[in-house]
Amino acid sequence: MMTPLARPRPATAPPGPTGLANAIRHMSELRQDISGLAARLGRKYGPIVSFQFGPIPMYAVTAPETMYEVLVEQAAKFHKTTLTKRVLGPSLGNGLLVSDGEFWRRQRRLAQPAFHIKRIEGYAETMVQFTQQMLAGWRSDEMREIDDDMMKLTLAIVTKTLFGTELSASDAHDIGKAVAIGQENSDLMFKSVFTLPPWVPTARNKRGTWAVQTIQNVVMRVIAERRASKEDKGDLLSMLLLASDGDSADGTTSGMTDQQARDEAVTLMLAGHETTSNTLTWAWYSLSQHPEIEAKLYAELRQVLAGRAPTLADLAQLPYTDAIIKEILRLYPAAYITAREPIEDVVIGGHTIKAHHAVLVPIYALHHDPRYYDQPEAFRPDRWLENGSTLEKSLPKGAYLPFGMGPRVCIGNMFASMEARLLLATIAQRWQFRLAPDQRVEIDPLVTLCPKYGMKMEVVSREL
Ligand code: HEM
Repeated sequence: MMTPLARPRPATAPPGPTGLANAIRHMSELRQDISGLAARLGRKYGPIVSFQFGPIPMYAVTAPETMYEVLVEQAAKFHKTTLTKRVLGPSLGNGLLVSDGEFWRRQRRLAQPAFHIKRIEGYAETMVQFTQQMLAGWRSDEMREIDDDMMKLTLAIVTKTLFGTELSASDAHDIGKAVAIGQENSDLMFKSVFTLPPWVPTARNKRGTWAVQTIQNVVMRVIAERRASKEDKGDLLSMLLLASDGDSADGTTSGMTDQQARDEAVTLMLAGHETTSNTLTWAWYSLSQHPEIEAKLYAELRQVLAGRAPTLADLAQLPYTDAIIKEILRLYPAAYITAREPIEDVVIGGHTIKAHHAVLVPIYALHHDPRYYDQPEAFRPDRWLENGSTLEKSLPKGAYLPFGMGPRVCIGNMFASMEARLLLATIAQRWQFRLAPDQRVEIDPLVTLCPKYGMKMEVVSREL
């Protein structure tokens, strides 16, 4: 006799804390220690958790398998969240970081060739050259705000690789100032639950509007000049402007409008410097606290480079340099959290997630999880090299994701990893860093993972 097929049980809501007291507590906890909250809920309730942020229902995926479902397997059912769009939309317009659906898919296809390995390899020289120019201004034993130095350096590099030679010194100065204001405003909006909309003329909103307009005007002017010259100057902007979907039936090609190209250029400029800058700042801090690791790095650089500047070809010979960047991206993932909203009800980890509710993807929490990393709080670059570097291969998918994963994985991941290694090698070969005695160090989870009190360090020149 045939047995009737068991009818699948309807998926239930994910487990999680309930009650008003928890809902209120999560409001302050989420803003102070979003990663800690996600880790705590994960330990108690499992790989998918529901909780209240005040009156707002939310979810968090707290295990590699549920992160993988959200970011990869069921990615098509998710969009970026309302909060992401509210915080980043005013400066990034409809650029890649915030756009969704068919529009995002087309823009990603058009922008992808700009990040082809062959194209970005050409930027290695610029990265090293700009670093050397910065170092030429340093004096041994002086105190420097290293976080500021790294921010200025990575902004100069991404601006140069985007726009080539077309920015005047005063444009670059205005952009630097506007970017700093934009970052401050986004961080404030990210931290506060209720902010006044940008059109309310508060002093902060006025400064924010000035910052956005300044950046957009400069970028629009460069786009107009580039369109008129029709030249491929080998930079990222040329690639964005040359990108097209191919010839259409009537013989025309379809590419980006000026406004779309502007949004993408501004997105790349903003997404492409603060993350790398924070990564390097955390690297200098960690090395200053671990002289034995710093000595090992220096030994590798001396042996392979013997005092000359690194080139792209050298990177393959610098495994320890690579392991340090991997370990910093694990311990201090600049993009420490991301989030999505499902566009329809969806089943994740066997539980129903309601449409349009935010799902947190706490990257930092996974990178610090003792189930996947031995001594997770320790700075141990060797973990990436031991036993024939099996760690990366043996980790479950979703346990190490500094650049995200799936269709929305960071478009600049190769650019960033090349830049971080080249800058580390160029600087560490010539300079050592000592933390200023009065410098407090704490992470500040803003839009990216920042050092809360800055990073003042003494820079000491090495005898070569
Ligand atoms: C260490 C440096 C960097 C880190 C840690 C980082 C991290 C990330 C992460 C985690 C995402 C995915 C976010 C999500 O899934 O919601 C992302 C997306 C993105 N990143 Fe990066 N990033 C870095 C550098 C860069 C650079 C150098 C660029 C460009 C020059 C860049 C441009 C972008 C863009 C445009 C996206 C959106 C991609 C899309 O949604 O299609 N990033 N990044």
